[in-house]
Amino acid sequence: MPFRITKAVIPAAGLGTRFLPATKAMPKEMLPVVDKPAIQYVVEEAVAAGLHDVLMITGRNKNALENHFDRATELEATLEEKGDVDKLQKVEYSNDLADIHYVRQGDPRGLGHAILRAHMHVGREPFAVLLGDDLIDPRDVLLERMIEEQNTRHASIIALMEVDPATAFLYGIATVENTGTPDVVRITGLVEKPPTGTELSNYAIIGRYVLQPDVFDVLQHTEPGKGNEIQLTDALQTMAHDNIAGGVYGVVFRGRRYDTGDRLDYIKAIVQLAVEREDLGPELRPWLKQFSANLD
Ligand code: UTP
Repeated sequence: MPFRITKAVIPAAGLGTRFLPATKAMPKEMLPVVDKPAIQYVVEEAVAAGLHDVLMITGRNKNALENHFDRATELEATLEEKGDVDKLQKVEYSNDLADIHYVRQGDPRGLGHAILRAHMHVGREPFAVLLGDDLIDPRDVLLERMIEEQNTRHASIIALMEVDPATAFLYGIATVENTGTPDVVRITGLVEKPPTGTELSNYAIIGRYVLQPDVFDVLQHTEPGKGNEIQLTDALQTMAHDNIAGGVYGVVFRGRRYDTGDRLDYIKAIVQLAVEREDLGPELRPWLKQFSANLD
């Protein structure tokens, strides 16, 4: 019987410095993408993949996150009084979306360090990690596919996307071998943010992982790397190189992904998602056409 993965870890304790001053008093995961905070899309994705037990790693300004997934009694009462059922549903929807737990990462010492904070909650089970600022279009399947591969290979699975080599320095980059399954590769090496020209492939790691619990032991011995942060990529490189707990495989994703941690990509994500929405698209599309026609 394959082990059924039920736990999702969502790190949201980064400083979000690329979005200052918006992130001075609010985590970047709370920035709205059209009319929902980015993190709600991510929790919805976890739940859609059957992961109802969600652990958020929070940092400073965690109140906005906790409040968003909790009841807003006064607001709910006012909407109820007004009989505004539609808006009330929108407010209430995130209250019981998942069984959400929180743990604090005292100092933001890197993604690997944030994941270590999940050790007590996760225990000795495989688990998923979803980065709170990386959105996967709900119409494209990724996490379910990764869980399926974890169930059959009993290894750690990361999500990869082919990127323009000129942008490889922004990502963790993987060297890979074919497996015979068209969308699955075996990871032979990983490097976090390689300097331009040194990247060994254009397979970039994107923010979804399904990990063996052994990653905690490896992270405990992982020294700070790029940016003096404890890097998850470095721990996964060790697991791939030493073939720990089945090694590491990559599922190659060819769907729509939006990086909301980067200002330009964030703007593009909002436009792309809004254009496709029934309530906004019909008015936004002609306006955008006219607007772009007037650009030099
Ligand atoms: P990023 O590197 O994109 O986040 O981390 P950041 O450091 O907040 O961004 P900038 O560069 O300063 O703008 C990827 C994910 O890991 C989380 C972030 O919240 C984000 O979801 N993270 C990062 C942590 O939870 N803790 C950390 O120490 C670092």
